[in-house]
Amino acid sequence: MLYSEKVMDHFRNPRNVGSIENADGVGEVGNAKCGDIMKIYLKIDDNVVTDVKFETFGCGSAIASSSMATEMIKGKPLNEVMELTNKAVVQALDGLPAHKLHCSVLAEEAVKSALKDYYDKNGIAYDPKQFPDLSCESCH
Ligand code: FES
Repeated sequence: MLYSEKVMDHFRNPRNVGSIENADGVGEVGNAKCGDIMKIYLKIDDNVVTDVKFETFGCGSAIASSSMATEMIKGKPLNEVMELTNKAVVQALDGLPAHKLHCSVLAEEAVKSALKDYYDKNGIAYDPKQFPDLSCESCH
């Protein structure tokens, strides 16, 4: 079977779908090659992600990855959210086929760009190196 049961589960029954009004941080990223787009909304209180929602216009692996990523960062302090990697998402999904790994990268980037948005909006200093290449200029 190409996809793990966890991938199928998160694809068929994605968690945290939707948007958050007045979100504290919003991140939108796109994959230039496949054209898929992912948007993540964060609600942040006291340096903790208290709520998270996502909208993904993309393939099943992108949907499963964003669903899993939101589950992984919900209730977590921002320093742990910052450490989320696409590898961790893939592991939590019990793997993705090699040609679908880039879909999980989209999830990591969307989360980080939402975090960056929160920092920017609140004038919180950060090391720009923590957010490499998140500009989504090419897809606007
Ligand atoms: Fe585009 Fe999966 S094929 S994100």
